[in-house]
Amino acid sequence: MVNVVLGSQWGDEGKGKLVDLLVGKYDIVARCAGGNNAGHTIVVNGVKYDFHMLPSGLVNPNCQNLLGNGVVIHLPSFFKELETLEAKGLTNCRERLFVSSRAHLVFDFHQITDKLRENELAGRSKDGKNIGTTGKGIGPTYATKASRSGLRVHHLVNDLPGAWEEFETKFRRLVETRQLRYGKFDFDIEGQLAQYKVLKEQLKPFVVDSVIFMHNAMKANKKILVEGANALMLDIDFGTYPFVTSSATGIGGVITGLGIPPRSIDEIYGVVKAYTTRVGEGPFPTEQLNAEGDKLQTIGAEFGVTTGRKRRCGWLDLVVLKYSTMINGYTSLNITKLDVLDTFKQIPIGVSYSINGNKLESFPEDLIKLGSVDVEYTTLPGWNEDITSVKTYDALPENAKKYLKFIEDFVGVPVEWVGTGPGRESMLHKDI
Ligand code: GDP
Ligand code: IMO
Ligand code: MG
Repeated sequence: MVNVVLGSQWGDEGKGKLVDLLVGKYDIVARCAGGNNAGHTIVVNGVKYDFHMLPSGLVNPNCQNLLGNGVVIHLPSFFKELETLEAKGLTNCRERLFVSSRAHLVFDFHQITDKLRENELAGRSKDGKNIGTTGKGIGPTYATKASRSGLRVHHLVNDLPGAWEEFETKFRRLVETRQLRYGKFDFDIEGQLAQYKVLKEQLKPFVVDSVIFMHNAMKANKKILVEGANALMLDIDFGTYPFVTSSATGIGGVITGLGIPPRSIDEIYGVVKAYTTRVGEGPFPTEQLNAEGDKLQTIGAEFGVTTGRKRRCGWLDLVVLKYSTMINGYTSLNITKLDVLDTFKQIPIGVSYSINGNKLESFPEDLIKLGSVDVEYTTLPGWNEDITSVKTYDALPENAKKYLKFIEDFVGVPVEWVGTGPGRESMLHKDI
């Protein structure tokens, strides 16, 4: 059985929390795309765990965890995150963590050029618009992957004669070509290569052929949960290009990032924040640059887990959710952070876009078009009640249930879970 958790908006919907809630029923949690640009916060018994690159399945001591071939890995950050989680009390992490031999490596020079490129964009473009990346080297690493000059895990851990020499040569060439492009940035090639000789030995015990790992697991009827990172509107093809990340963050990335057949996938859970947030630059039609947006930001404690940046806030956008559903084919939804709306008397929901009075059929591909859309809202009454201690779906206030029903009817997908607070216990389940 392979089930998938995917972000349906611009990220930070609360994917980590759903994974944590479900993980007790699974044998394996796998990440298939992205790197440590992700930030998944999980609160268990009052302890807060921040995951960036590692799968959230590590919180369950019985669960194995895989970083698939579609993930990009900065090894110093990988070990740092592992040590931080161990220090917080997670046990046997090293025996339960596996890394695909085909995953690409993120190096410090990727992170340096990520920042140089952002500075260049901020200075050069007409409106001074950089992407607002996390600076973790994600884009430059997928770029070297696509240009076929990247280095993968197997290149590093290979002990056959000549393998290390080839790694060194390719590494030097990568730095040199970047210095030709960006100018001679400060970089200690020899020091880095010495560091990677050590990291190579540290990494070896984690490395697997992930195609075999996944297929053996499926053959043995293991229960596998795929933890999506980033989100559909940040997808390199379907997101608000170029204000996106550099990987396939939707269902396609699950197939290519793990090497599993499409038909092996069972359920696809779409995680939807009850309103919308976005970190970084780029279009956001239902953004509220006003007191309502500030209120969502404050009550929702909307700060990025990876960069600490304030998240931009606005109303739920069902044009986005419908588009996201068409691509990912969610079988059910998890609406998160409904409690954040408790004190809003009226709650607008974006239901369509139009340009000069002409209604658009779907989410537009073009940013100039997107910049000129008028959003039509349907406003639903709030419930003006604290729902954080509600224990069952049926016990939710009527207006909260109407809000959820409106979403279900609009996108044609049932709501299966509702988040009413950050803790593990604050999640209501509805039989569907
Ligand atoms: P992810 O990247 O999709 O895993 O989401 P993040 O962890 O970056 O951001 C979601 C934030 O909302 C985290 O701080 C969670 O602890 C918190 N959270 C998740 N679900 C709920 C909920 O239902 N209510 C509230 N108030 N907070 C939630
Ligand atoms: P999770 O898994 C929110 C955004 C960045 C930036 C853009 C490109 O926590 O939902 P990158 O460093 O990937 O090249 O940045 O994508 N971004 C995210 N925003 N949540 C995420 O992950 C994100 N991953 C990338 O803020 O706008
Ligand atoms: Mg996040």
